[in-house]
Amino acid sequence: MTKTLIRNAVIMTMNAKGEIIQGDVLVENNRIASVGGSVPSVQADTVIDANGKVLLPGFVQTHIHLCQTLFRGRADDLELIDWLRQRIWPLEAAHNADSVYYSAMLGIGELLRSGTTTILDMETVHHTESAFQAIQESGIRAISGKVMMDHGTEVPAPLQEKTAKSLEDSVQLLEKWNGAADGRIQYAFCPRFVVSCTEELLTGVRDLSEQYNVRVHTHASENQDEIAIVESERGLRNVIYLDRIGLARPNLILAHSIWLDEEERRIIRERGVKVTHCPGSNLKLASGVAQVPELLRDGVPVGIGADGAPCNNNLDMFQEMRLTAFMQKVKHGPTVMDARTVLRMATMGGAEVLGMEKEIGSVEVGKLADLQLLDLEDFHVYPSFDADWYSRVVYAATRGDVDTVMVDGRIVMRGRMMTTIDKSYVLREADRTLRNLLSRL
Ligand code: GUN
Ligand code: FE
Repeated sequence: MTKTLIRNAVIMTMNAKGEIIQGDVLVENNRIASVGGSVPSVQADTVIDANGKVLLPGFVQTHIHLCQTLFRGRADDLELIDWLRQRIWPLEAAHNADSVYYSAMLGIGELLRSGTTTILDMETVHHTESAFQAIQESGIRAISGKVMMDHGTEVPAPLQEKTAKSLEDSVQLLEKWNGAADGRIQYAFCPRFVVSCTEELLTGVRDLSEQYNVRVHTHASENQDEIAIVESERGLRNVIYLDRIGLARPNLILAHSIWLDEEERRIIRERGVKVTHCPGSNLKLASGVAQVPELLRDGVPVGIGADGAPCNNNLDMFQEMRLTAFMQKVKHGPTVMDARTVLRMATMGGAEVLGMEKEIGSVEVGKLADLQLLDLEDFHVYPSFDADWYSRVVYAATRGDVDTVMVDGRIVMRGRMMTTIDKSYVLREADRTLRNLLSRL
């Protein structure tokens, strides 16, 4: 058994009582064995002195597209449908196995380095194997799947799938990757959005997700033009349509869900559907302001995700937390969401969206050891005297304050040094594979 001892941290547990305690955390193999108090260091293989540092659960981002990281800065200043048709789909169509791998590595490097330890990810139509490879090697915890699209206009030929083949390819990936790396990797069916999917594909996903007991991850009601397309083709509002065909169930995770009416909010609440909020993406694509306080009041689990690099343009939970709070304050007033509520969304809230609230999202004995240490000894996060820790972390801290990150008991960054990813190699290969990809456009 390997033991890691983190000594003398300020531990923001994010447990139900909201406890913040000073002391040690002992990790045995991939699980948290003790929280608080003092553990004799002679027991441990690795000892990390966390004096003056803050220990938090790793962030859980519930909507990411690793395959799009390579497209950062290549689709700025557009609305969703133009953004997809003019830029993102042609770029995804030009991917090969090599470019998906380095796109994923670039994204995972950014995520781990900024404290995110778990992601719900949506890949592109092809080469998803490469993304899983990068997930496996890097050590991040991920639920991912190939995107499915068998319908729609202005879709480049390489992304147009036959319904049966899309389902078959998904099942093949599922059988290989679901539960891989000792359960650190899981599979989710990822129909892109109703605009890209026939009813036959969606009902096929419904049945297979039940058969294999896995999640369904899709975009829904992000943009008003998207909703108009769904209404004109299916005759119903987006979420009502998803419910009518039997997809609105507890294993369904919807990204964005900005434009919901009362009936759709009722469906989400009553069917146990989960929602991901993507504030940076919603602002940059001018999609709108999601009904986050309303959903939380309804008891709906809401997580936070950066979405893809080309609509954000970072994958940084610190920025997303800040935007989550600030966006709602402008709409509803300054008291609507406080720092503690937002930090909960970024940790336990995300865990609930994934149905993993018993495994991740807080620093508690028995949970998986997905942790981050922040070094707050800097001008921008001082003073520390009598500090409100939630305020300090959510409103003042930034990604550069993340000092050490552990996923599944394995240290992936220590003292800002990445241990599973060769940063300069990945940066160089990202540029090389992008140059080749652009020549295939
Ligand atoms: N809707 C359908 N596909 C996408 C995508 O790749 N990103 C976002 N933000 N919305 C989508
Ligand atoms: Fe997205």
